[in-house]
Amino acid sequence: MEWVLLDQTDSTNQKALELARQGSPEGTAVLARRQTAGRGRRGRSFFSPEGGLYLSLILRPKLSPADFCLITPMAAAAVCQAIESRCGRFPKIKWVNDLILDGGKVCGILCEVTGDAVVVGIGVNYSAPAEGFPQELGQKAAALYPSNGGPVSRKALAEAIVQALLEGCRRLEQCGGLEEYQKRSFLPGNPVTVHPFSGPKYDAQALSVDERGRLLVRDDQGRVRILDSGEVSVRLLEG
Ligand code: BTN
Repeated sequence: MEWVLLDQTDSTNQKALELARQGSPEGTAVLARRQTAGRGRRGRSFFSPEGGLYLSLILRPKLSPADFCLITPMAAAAVCQAIESRCGRFPKIKWVNDLILDGGKVCGILCEVTGDAVVVGIGVNYSAPAEGFPQELGQKAAALYPSNGGPVSRKALAEAIVQALLEGCRRLEQCGGLEEYQKRSFLPGNPVTVHPFSGPKYDAQALSVDERGRLLVRDDQGRVRILDSGEVSVRLLEG
């Protein structure tokens, strides 16, 4: 395992993608204390102040390209396991790749592919920013620790995450199962609003997550739809 430890960078994913293109091996991990251009899903930016854990790991999975889509759900389960084992906290997964703790998002995951490498980018709100999370995040945020940190160091947690990701990758290569992801997903059973990449949003009931990490929902016309992308929010029922 090779570590690139940075105080500040634009994006650890960007740095890891460059290293992967230059031939850096699987297990190379870039860890920064803050990012100036942190990247989120769907071209969004990722709020990355001091106090967070910004980690990108190079994997070179022995999987067919069609199975690379399993890496994001594997990574979500791996980060949950690492947080559980090191910090004794129990985040849940909100499809497809947000980790939720105390009702707020504690971690986001962005996987990016270059050639035969996948860069797994993990942003954990390790400690709360001293000035609090900005309102405009649009989604409630949660942190593992208060702003002065906690008993498990950022580096120790990052090491546990890397270990869990490498093990998760080996498991995928051997048997391809997403049982851990399914077990930790909290959407099934909940009323949701689906926000597809294209087309109008609609209400549905979340049913289950399948072995490919897709979310099955039943829409208000009773049709079962299988989602492999898009976003889903939990709908609060009135009354
Ligand atoms: C999301 O929730 O939209 C995904 C956020 C992923 C953020 C992490 S932080 C470390 C890595 N570097 C980035 O630029 N993005 C990922």
